[in-house]
Amino acid sequence: MSEAAENLSAQDLIAYLAQQENKTLLRFLTCGSVDDGKSTLIGRLLYDTKLLFDDQLATLERDSKKHGTVGEDIDFALLVDGLEAEREQGITIDVAYRFFTTDKRKFIVADTPGHEQYTRNMATGASTADLAILLVDARKGILTQTRRHAFIASLLGIRHVVVAVNKIDLVDYSQDIFEKIRDDFAEFARNFGFKQIVAIPLSARFGDNVIARSERTPWYKGPTLLDHLETVEVEDEQLAKPFRMAVQWVNRPNLDFRGFSGTIASGTVRPGDRIVVAASGRTSTVARIVTADGDLDVAGAGDAVTLTLADEIDISRGDLLVAATDQPEVADQFAAHVIWMHEDHLLPGRPYLVKIGTRTVTAQVTEIKHKIDVNTLDHLAAKELGLNEVAVCNFSLSQPVGFDAYTANRETGAFIIIDRLSNATVGAGMIMFGLRRATNIHLQALDVNKAARANLKGQKPVILWFTGLSGAGKSTIANIVEKYLLAQGRHTYMLDGDNVRHGLNRDLGFTEADRVENIRRVAEVSKLMIDAGLIVLVSFISPFRAERRMARELVEEGEFIEVFCDTPLAIAESRDPKGLYKKARAGQIKNFTGIDSPYEPPENPEIRLESGTKSVELLAEEVIALLRSRGVIV
Ligand code: ADX
Repeated sequence: MSEAAENLSAQDLIAYLAQQENKTLLRFLTCGSVDDGKSTLIGRLLYDTKLLFDDQLATLERDSKKHGTVGEDIDFALLVDGLEAEREQGITIDVAYRFFTTDKRKFIVADTPGHEQYTRNMATGASTADLAILLVDARKGILTQTRRHAFIASLLGIRHVVVAVNKIDLVDYSQDIFEKIRDDFAEFARNFGFKQIVAIPLSARFGDNVIARSERTPWYKGPTLLDHLETVEVEDEQLAKPFRMAVQWVNRPNLDFRGFSGTIASGTVRPGDRIVVAASGRTSTVARIVTADGDLDVAGAGDAVTLTLADEIDISRGDLLVAATDQPEVADQFAAHVIWMHEDHLLPGRPYLVKIGTRTVTAQVTEIKHKIDVNTLDHLAAKELGLNEVAVCNFSLSQPVGFDAYTANRETGAFIIIDRLSNATVGAGMIMFGLRRATNIHLQALDVNKAARANLKGQKPVILWFTGLSGAGKSTIANIVEKYLLAQGRHTYMLDGDNVRHGLNRDLGFTEADRVENIRRVAEVSKLMIDAGLIVLVSFISPFRAERRMARELVEEGEFIEVFCDTPLAIAESRDPKGLYKKARAGQIKNFTGIDSPYEPPENPEIRLESGTKSVELLAEEVIALLRSRGVIV
């Protein structure tokens, strides 16, 4: 609680609260490592602004004696580091948000750790921040870590930076040292697009220039840290941008009312404004802006509203409503910066979900253009992305979406990447620009179609997708089934891993990334064969659920039959028809499925074959019986 609040009479309370309500909010982020005094700085801010309650203070004084590292003084770091476990490790993990307020402004601080592996946390904290405080130890100057923090802050669209040159007491309040750090930083951050960089010499431990101007730095004429935080102008940036609102839900309580609810991402809107549904291009005019407290004449960025329109046009959840006078890009392919946040690597070709605004679509990375070394900013070639890596990637989406470049609009240019099986958020993206190449390629409408081709052959096209370990019996069983189908006069084709890898896929090996691409190509080829009216037998280990599901979703319901050859590893290994298991065990082959590369068994295959125990002839008959029951053959 701030001092002013304590002396209030009851009558003033309402007025006071109203004023508190109207205070602007600054979200900022602190970057630096424990050694830079980051926690001490935040603790000092909270303590000196008297934003601590008495009981917190008593605890702090007690803890300082118990755990503190600064003798009889209060150890402000304890206030922030909080958790016992973190203290014991000597590092702060994950992002901690703290809320505090002064008489001028409200603040939310995202505190993120500085260690190398925590790019993810910093990105999480930075994505909503207006300003970043980069802590620099005056004795050490700009470090690799400072560069990394500055780069990620710039990538995440932070435009205001404070270079907090801390521990200035330990360099005798030297003006030269301070100015060198300030200039070094300005030099390397020249191209980062920062609007304002303010360097402040301070001592978090002794309070110099944190809240009160220090007598020990008479040469410093700039603001104190708190002054700057209280006055820096950041708020109206989203408001000044073109109107954008993603539809969260369609509000239709009865037949007479149809409204589109959401939070305005940017710009303002008034009744009478022309708006467009980004992806479909349909237009209408805003009729009313409805809120719980009545209709509004105007609403702006950050407001949660329900819009009604003058016309009945097709709009659903996920659609982006935009100003007709200033429209976003609409495309199903774009280039974006990606920060990967998961231990499982990003693999090009693998289907993920991309959530942009309120819309979620399936998407693939078609290419990793380059990885960026966050310490040196060097561009590196990459086939996959690991935890905390940053890259420029091309994306292909299952349908066109509306978006802006992230540098133009942080709300409509950002997306998250979600794993389709676990639903975990695995990455964050910042869109650079749409790729036009897809828009000029139109699907050719052909007179001879799948149905016509299938009719001529007198059959129902399907994919029989055999999956299982090497040596499970996939190809052997598929072969028997194909011979039977041929004898029945059916038109078939067999795609077999070993064969396809000699031709179409000869450039691919057995890394996860290559297997994903292997299956993606085979799935696309199978789809073409379905279109040709064929019965396709596919025999690939295809170890990952995600890619088998992708193959399934490429064709129509009922056209994909997953045949799981369920042979236990021990049995497949004892068969070892090609001697590969032996080699894999001896370490001569790497990434061998079942040995040092995973196999994810199907959860709901159309048919599961006990290929470890039953004879291949019997199992082939089981497959044929299934085809008969589905009317593929008579
Ligand atoms: S998949 O995993 O990408 O679907 P695919 O079915 O194409 O694999 O190829 C598997 C075949 O390649 C195996 O039957 C085996 O003969 C051969 N092979 C060679 N090296 C490996 C390996 N490291 N892992 C699995 N199979 C391998």
